[in-house]
Amino acid sequence: MQKAIGVLTSGGDAPGMNAAVRAVTRAAISRGYRVVGVKRGYNGLLNGECVELDQRDVSDIIQRGGTILCTARCLEFKEEKYIKIAAENCRNMGVEGLVVIGGDGSFRGAADLSRIGGIRCIGIPGTIDNDIQCTEYTIGYDTAMNTALEMIDKLRDTSQSHDRCSVVEVMGRHAGWIALNVAMASGAIACVIPEVPYDINKIAEKISKAHSTEKEHFIVVVAEGVEKSQEITDQISKLTGIETRLTVLGHVQRGGMPTVRDRVAASRMGYHAVELIDQGQNNRVVGMVHNKIIDVDIQEALSMKKPFDMQRYKVCDEITF
Ligand code: ADP
Ligand code: F6P
Repeated sequence: MQKAIGVLTSGGDAPGMNAAVRAVTRAAISRGYRVVGVKRGYNGLLNGECVELDQRDVSDIIQRGGTILCTARCLEFKEEKYIKIAAENCRNMGVEGLVVIGGDGSFRGAADLSRIGGIRCIGIPGTIDNDIQCTEYTIGYDTAMNTALEMIDKLRDTSQSHDRCSVVEVMGRHAGWIALNVAMASGAIACVIPEVPYDINKIAEKISKAHSTEKEHFIVVVAEGVEKSQEITDQISKLTGIETRLTVLGHVQRGGMPTVRDRVAASRMGYHAVELIDQGQNNRVVGMVHNKIIDVDIQEALSMKKPFDMQRYKVCDEITF
């Protein structure tokens, strides 16, 4: 049987995952591999929901959000017996190496499939949260930020008309990367993120002080991971007396056409993942550092801590008043 490379998308979807699937497929075919597209994350490896992909199957997807392979969370994959079944299914399909596009959880699955099942796995960071330790950039992050910013710009119009404060909750399960950047880019008066403790009295004071200098409308960006968006909204309203509304942007941030940055990152990372498999490498995560494509051991990647950009937070805070 002609050797094959498998590819799957796992965890939350992210714009640009399709561009990564395309790059993996085309780079693998160029090197003489068959490509097996695994549907619905690790579920497809357990129930055999897999499709052969040729170069035309990935035509016209580079510009599409979502993932043509679909994605899912597969709880069984945390159990050894299911990992062994998945590995056996890979071998039966001639899959020598598997490219896993997803987040930290998906990489844990890949590490297990490699260690327990003996399948060579390479991870590509795909998540809008940009919360993967070993890389400065994850696929989907830029598109999600631009989508959030577009929505906030619309909210600014209506906040301005009504002299209101808009509290906007953006995604980021445990991370404030999206929040911090869109806060800066939208000129938000405050940004509340899980990485930095907040003081609601200070936020209210900042708003009231700006109000006294004839600033009449305000944007406050809150990361979902803070889990206090409604409370923050109610307190700002109470402490400042300014009419304050909460908008939760939610899953809209996960869809849409990927930006240039996401398509290019996905294409470069997908290509690199295939190169690694072709070189016989295993258990690596692809990343981007100083705009260069790198790779690190999966276990090492999972144990690293991503430094938070406090300077960016300070800039954001000091230039809005
Ligand atoms: P993400 O990859 O975006 O972090 P999840 O944490 O939901 O998303 O993980 C996606 C999938 O990866 C899970 O549904 C499961 O199939 C697999 N996975 C997560 N954690 C583990 C683990 N500790 N061991 C094996 N597989 C895991
Ligand atoms: O990890 C990406 C993310 O969009 C987080 O920002 C969010 O908390 C989570 O996924 C939502 O997941 P679900 O699709 O299960 O609602």
